[in-house]
Formats: sequence, C-alpha cells, structure tokens
Amino acid sequence: MFGKKASGNTSRKAVAPAVDTSIEAEKIIEPEEVPKQQPAAPMKDGAESEAYYETKATIFNALFETIDVSALAGMEAVAARQEIRTIVDEIIAIRNVRLSVVEQNQLISEICDDILGYGPLEPLLVREDIADIMVNGAKHVFIETNGRMEKTNIRFRDNAQLMNICQRIVSQVGRRVDESSPICDARLLDGSRVNVIAPPLAIDGPTLTIRKFKKDKLRLDNLVGFGSISPAGAKVLKIIGACQCNILISGGTGSGKTTLLNCLTAFIHPDERIITCEDAAELQLQQPHVVRLETRPPNLEGKGKITMSDLVKNCLRMRPERIIVGEVRGPEAFDLLQAMNTGHDGSMGTLHANSPREGLSRLESMITMGGFSLPTRTIREMIVGSIDIVIQATRLRDGSRKITHITEVLGMEGDVIVTQDLVLYEMGGEDAQGKIIGEHKSTGIARPAFWERARYFNLEKDLALALDEAGEG
Ligand SMILES: Nc1ncnc2c1ncn2[C@@H]1O[C@H](COP(=O)(O)OP(=O)(O)O)[C@@H](O)[C@H]1O
Ligand SMILES: [Mg+2]
Repeated sequence: MFGKKASGNTSRKAVAPAVDTSIEAEKIIEPEEVPKQQPAAPMKDGAESEAYYETKATIFNALFETIDVSALAGMEAVAARQEIRTIVDEIIAIRNVRLSVVEQNQLISEICDDILGYGPLEPLLVREDIADIMVNGAKHVFIETNGRMEKTNIRFRDNAQLMNICQRIVSQVGRRVDESSPICDARLLDGSRVNVIAPPLAIDGPTLTIRKFKKDKLRLDNLVGFGSISPAGAKVLKIIGACQCNILISGGTGSGKTTLLNCLTAFIHPDERIITCEDAAELQLQQPHVVRLETRPPNLEGKGKITMSDLVKNCLRMRPERIIVGEVRGPEAFDLLQAMNTGHDGSMGTLHANSPREGLSRLESMITMGGFSLPTRTIREMIVGSIDIVIQATRLRDGSRKITHITEVLGMEGDVIVTQDLVLYEMGGEDAQGKIIGEHKSTGIARPAFWERARYFNLEKDLALALDEAGEG
C-alpha cells in the first residue's frame, strides 16, 4: 500500500495547497473539536443519524492520519478511490465500527468526494436538472431547478472546508483564491461556470456560484413547448435569425438570453462563416464553419488579460460573416456595433437589461463609459444603424421564462430612438397554483421594417403568415 505512515502531521497540509488549511487540519486533529460531518449526499429529506456523521468524522480523521492525502490527489481517480476504500475498510475493521453495507458504501463514497472531488457539492454537480448552485458560506446551499430557487440541506463542515473546495476548483484553471485575491472566475471540467468571492469581501464566508453547463441545450421547439414563445412568435424568430438581422437579446440574469441566442443560431445558413466571442464558451453552434473564441482573465501575476473588446476587434480581421458575442457588458459594445455597421449582418449579442428600450440605452452608456467621446446623437445613430431587432427575455415571478418582446429598431425622431413592438407577451393574471397566465400577441404590424430584408431572402410570405398567425393570439 502506498503512502502509509505512522503520523499524518506533515502530510495533512498537503490536501489543499495555498488555502489556510491549517485551520481545518487543526480542527481535524483536536479530538474534542472533531467537527461533525454534515449531510453530504442527502438532499431534502435524507436525515442521516448523528451517529453516522460522528462515525464518518472519526473514520475521516483516522484516514488522514494514515495516508498521504496529497499523493492520492495525484492518482488516477479510480485507483485513488480504490485506495481509500481499502484503507477505510481496514479502519472500520480495526476499530470495530458497526455499519451496514449500505452505510459503509455511502460513507466511502462521501469520503472520496471530500478528498478527491468537490465534497458535499458532488451530488449536486451530477444532477442534470439543476441550473445553478449557490453556496453562501458553509451552511447555506441553494439550488435552482426549473426556474425555482430552493434551499438544500447540504452543508460543508465549516468555511475552511468550503474554501478548500473553492480553491480546488479554481486551481484547475491555474488560478488562486485567498484573502489577497478574493474574487475569482473559473470553469469546471464539464464547462460549468464558477465564481468565488471569499472573505473579507464576502462577509458570511466563501460564496460560490456555479452556473451548470447544460449538455443538451434547449431548442426553439422546446421553448415553444414550455410556452416561452408562441408557435407563431417562434416562426417570426426563425425568420429574423435566417434573414441576417442584427439582433440584441436583452434580459436579466438567468432569464434565458444565452439559451435564446443559441436557439437563434440554429437558423443561420450553413455556408456562413461565424465567429463567436464569449467569456466562457457556452454556445453550441451546429454549423460547420464556426470559430470559437474565449476571453482570458489575467494570470496570477496579473498579466495576459484578453478582453471581449480585444476579441471582437480581432474578429474583424478574420473575415467573419457573422459575429456573435455571448455577453456585451463593456467597451466591446462599440466594436460590435462597428462590426454590424460594416457589413457583418446577422451579428448578435446579449446584454443585461429589463426592456428593449433599457437595452438600447445600456448599449449607449457602455459606449459612453468605454471612453469613446462621441456625441450622444452620434452614438444613437450608430445604434439605430446597427441593431435591427431587440428580443427581450424575462424570468417571471413564477419562475417561468418568457420572450416578452420582439421589437424592431426603426430610426430616430429628433434625438430619440424609435422602436416598434412586433410581438408582445401579455400577462393576464395568476391561476390557483400561482402560475402566470398570459399569451403572446402580435401588435398588428403587418409589414415590419425588416420586410425588405425578408424579401431578399425569399421569406416575406412566411413572415406575413407568421405575423398574421401571431395576431390571432
Ligand atoms: N425558455 C426557457 N424555459 C425554461 N428554462 C430555460 C429557458 N431558457 C433558459 N432556460 C434555462 O435557464 C437557465 C439559464 O439560462 P441562460 O440562457 O444561461 O440565461 P442567461 O444567459 O440569461 O443568464 C439554463 O439552465 C437554461 O437551460
Ligand atoms: Mg448568459
């Protein structure tokens, strides 16, 4: 057997480099202070007995004293698990611990998760139905499923263990999180996006937010199935995507912007050369001719940062037909508008705003704040000349996600940007279960401003039909 030794004093620290593991290690050896293992795997109603957690803590500590845990981390996952299993079986036998086979297996799997994986987070990470995991300090773990936020009874032993796991996550992408650099973005191997903010900035303990990566992205048909958009509204979207409109998708966090963007890309012609720019690659384009770019945060020395604006500027030298920006939040707004203005029709981006109108003014302020000293009117003219359509995604209070506006940008009247809604979601009220009742309706515009564009792509008849159908509600 590898790594066995008489005392675990030196190796304990090696479990988690770079964080103040000393606190945790200290806690582990003090017998009086043995921290109770909190429920790891069980979710809502898995009320394991106190005795089980005490046993787990005892065995955990014994294991720490027996093996060099840092060496385990360097091993193949399967071999490391086998190693842990062998030693734990031995400890159980020697100490005469009484456990059922099921309990013993659960215990071993939890210990493996703690040492090799992401501890109490593991059972959440494998669940496909979870969209977000939010950890507010060791004792409060929330998840979002189907648009609903719920508290789980998953807990970390203490903030040190949580910090440890945060550290393990971010170190995989070569980053570090501690008191001196308490904010960190990272990505899990499965593509999930992670943000960590640690004390002293996060007052109640390390705070971890994970946006789970969905392998099977929703398609427009799915959105129709969920009632996020009506069938006729979906047809309008399809035409907008196909006929190279420049599109801005506006919405709040988690309202479904990226999902919608991904849906719209499905209608891009397979011959087009598409370049995507994202902070973390989420989009899944099906076309054969796609270049995917990703921004880069600075490294540990604070060097090597590549911004969204850098990427979008570079795109222009890559002969793109369409540029797709995952999320516009800063000076790249200017670069994207420039691209849209200079013949890269069909470019798209998302931004954070609560209405199409707010979306447009956000775009304006991003440009102003980006240090481009242009007169307001010029910026607005640029916006009007670039953006054809704004689509608003909204997460309603019942957790459902709706496309609430399909809006055209028409032009300027004086200094004001004029828009025109094509399709709107009208809320009626609530049913007995608190579900919001409403419907998508066309506003009765029979000939939208992008009509000529649709005609060019031979889609004007479909557009007329779709709008007509949408008008019937
Ligand atoms: N129309 C929808 N109906 C149900 N779930 C949706 C819908 N749109 C998105 N989702 C889910 O909501 C979560 C957040 O969506 P995402 O597109 O990443 O939001 P955003 O980019 O606005 O932050 C994802 O898990 C996604 O699968
Ligand atoms: Mg997004």
